[in-house]
Amino acid sequence: MKILGIESSCDETGVAVFDTEQGLVAHALHSQIDLHAVYGGVVPEIASRDHLRRILPLIKQVLGEAEIERPDAIAYTAGPGLVGALMVGGGTAAGLGLAWDCPVIPVHHMEGHLLAPMLEDEPPAFPFLALLVSGGHTLLIHVRALGDYALLGTTLDDAVGEAFDKTAKLLDLGYPGGPALAALAEAGDDSAFRLPRPMLKRAGFDFSFSGLKTAVMLEVRKLEEAGTLAERKPDVAASFQRAAVDTLVGRTLQAAKALQLERIVIAGGVGANKLLRADMASRFSGRVFYPRLAFCTDNGAMIAVAGALRLADATSAGEIRARARWSLDTLARPDTTAMAATS
Ligand code: KG4
Ligand code: ZN
Repeated sequence: MKILGIESSCDETGVAVFDTEQGLVAHALHSQIDLHAVYGGVVPEIASRDHLRRILPLIKQVLGEAEIERPDAIAYTAGPGLVGALMVGGGTAAGLGLAWDCPVIPVHHMEGHLLAPMLEDEPPAFPFLALLVSGGHTLLIHVRALGDYALLGTTLDDAVGEAFDKTAKLLDLGYPGGPALAALAEAGDDSAFRLPRPMLKRAGFDFSFSGLKTAVMLEVRKLEEAGTLAERKPDVAASFQRAAVDTLVGRTLQAAKALQLERIVIAGGVGANKLLRADMASRFSGRVFYPRLAFCTDNGAMIAVAGALRLADATSAGEIRARARWSLDTLARPDTTAMAATS
């Protein structure tokens, strides 16, 4: 069975075809980063309009690469995200579903990230601990089975990707700054500045990044006053990255130990961070799984594979779902009873 996946929740239009027998057969991505960079962040109206422009040509391209005229099912991101942007993907999926008379499956964006490692040759078995780190989320989740998610911890303030982006902005590295900051950090000394590792000593598994962000801001101000910021930027980047990674890895290991889990999945945009991947792997006694780099950030492949696992959750023809806010732990196991009743 071939599933077309459509992602349009933020500033990337992603389209892919996942075959339940052969795996991923085609994928394409259009990034809007250049359009938003001048504004220093995503402008929702510009995002919606660009999705609208790109989505059908991308779908045609991907179906061509998959050598099919139409898929057997369509999966699209139904939230959380920018509602206008989500409506473009949802509307396209609903329209094509009617035209092609095939099932249409709404997918939770973060569940897509969570399941992205299923695209790899050695996917993780359930249960596992998932660290989902993106521009909008920092979540630690006990994944007992597909759709059986217990939220262990989240951020009390900024998401870790946001902290990377804001620190990058302080250092004038453009938007989104995470990858640029990580690249600059390679040339820096990660012990140059003493920065806090927030929350590690507190009970529970929540995160907080605003204290770290403020500490970096104070250091940057001092450097500006001393006129040495330009030459010390790599040191600031490296010290920030080290503190953020220590916090993420420390918290995740505490949770893995408490729940006696042997597998950890890292996913979401910040999961592309090399130091985070390397540190988690070297400090954890069990196994760490992550998607290939291209599927850490937003993409259509993760939506297609999530759709393949949730075929039972197809909605009625023509229905469009788009939710700005949607908590991952409200999801349920796939509705296989509905599937049995209709087949
Ligand atoms: O998952 P994603 O593509 O979009 C959201 O759903 O938010 O994540 C984007 C976030 C941005 O904050 C970006 O700066 C961050 O992921 N990011 C990174 C790296 N690559 C992307 N942060 C740190 N290191 C990286 N290599
Ligand atoms: Zn994302």
